[in-house]
Amino acid sequence: MTRINVTVDGVGYEDEVEPRTLLVHYLRESLGKTGTVIGCDTSNCGACTVHLDGRSVKSCNVLAVQADGHEVTTIEGLAQDGELHPMQKAFHNCHALQCGYCTPGMIMQAIDVLNENPDPSEEQIRVGLEGNLCRCTGYHNIVKAVQEAAGSGATAGAREGAQS
Ligand code: FES
Ligand code: FES
Repeated sequence: MTRINVTVDGVGYEDEVEPRTLLVHYLRESLGKTGTVIGCDTSNCGACTVHLDGRSVKSCNVLAVQADGHEVTTIEGLAQDGELHPMQKAFHNCHALQCGYCTPGMIMQAIDVLNENPDPSEEQIRVGLEGNLCRCTGYHNIVKAVQEAAGSGATAGAREGAQS
């Protein structure tokens, strides 16, 4: 077992983990952060996307020990003071989901896309989201939501923004 210190959604945790434990399993099973979901076993669906020090990563592709000393933000850490993050609001407004399984990862990735480029073209949004699969929507409303969020000036959550 290896001891890690990690901050998740603004709260510090000190835990013993197996060196092979994936970050997604640590988040879900040790911390109960089940908003971060697993949609494949091949690292290609993006459903497990979280932010590690403000940049999106597929948490099934990162070991928990690699998060030692770092800050993780999950979909559960985006709302501030009971207010949804602008990207969450945009997904709601644009009906950018059906079953919702891809949505946590899609929102985390979409925020990363706007952090990189606050005014992306439709093509740039589609390229930015290409690592996230949606089996329901056909992507149109997801792209619209990211465009709406871009128009509202949405970037990272206040917590991440405060640290950058
Ligand atoms: S569960 Fe991580 S990419 Fe699919
Ligand atoms: S809304 Fe069902 S997978 Fe995207």
